[in-house]
Amino acid sequence: MIAPSLLSADFARLAEETQRVADADWLHVDVMDAHFVPNLTLGLPVVQAIQAVSPIPLDCHLMIDNPERWAPGYAEIGAYNVTVHAEACTEPRAVARDIRAAGALAGLAVKPGTPLEDYIDVLTDFDTLLVMTVEPGFGGQSFIADVLPKVRKARELVDTGHLKLFVEVDGGINADTIEQAAAAGADVFVAGSAVYGAEDPAKAIAALRAQAAAAMSG
Ligand code: DX5
Ligand code: ZN
Repeated sequence: MIAPSLLSADFARLAEETQRVADADWLHVDVMDAHFVPNLTLGLPVVQAIQAVSPIPLDCHLMIDNPERWAPGYAEIGAYNVTVHAEACTEPRAVARDIRAAGALAGLAVKPGTPLEDYIDVLTDFDTLLVMTVEPGFGGQSFIADVLPKVRKARELVDTGHLKLFVEVDGGINADTIEQAAAAGADVFVAGSAVYGAEDPAKAIAALRAQAAAAMSG
């Protein structure tokens, strides 16, 4: 699945920008609070407005402190998947429970330097694992291939039945990097600049999807 990141869209034309990626699977929305990450984007009222016009399900990536307080609200307004950062949670299981109770899939994100081992137990309560392939905060950064062993490990845990979740990668995904990520076992690919920076986002989505599919079966 391809999830274009709205972070690289034109924020003055959000409704039109959602239409330009209508062929994608999820619309990735990066919520940043200027505390957990050194950048500030948008919050619940704007995400609610996006949800009202988006042709595809919302994948909300909360790069915020105190996700316990805010995450369920994104599920309540109809987001399809709500992901919180492992590094920001005191009780990841409780957050997952609250997100699911509010009607969304629950995701757990890990920064490049955060080991997966610490979270394997709690991941049984999640639907999505988001492996960051850049340091969270900004679009347009370079893919960190050193993170791929975590993707491989997660895929192995899913394939052996220990976990049941989507393995999502986010950051620096483009035509040059998506195949490595797919071969390592990711099945959801966030792409910001590679989609919104393309002349034809629909074409870019189709091309990325084809590359990922080929690398997965290969
Ligand atoms: C970074 C965000 C990403 C970002 C990806 O903190 O989580 O979703 O938009 O942008 P690209 O694809 O340009 O690296
Ligand atoms: Zn993101």
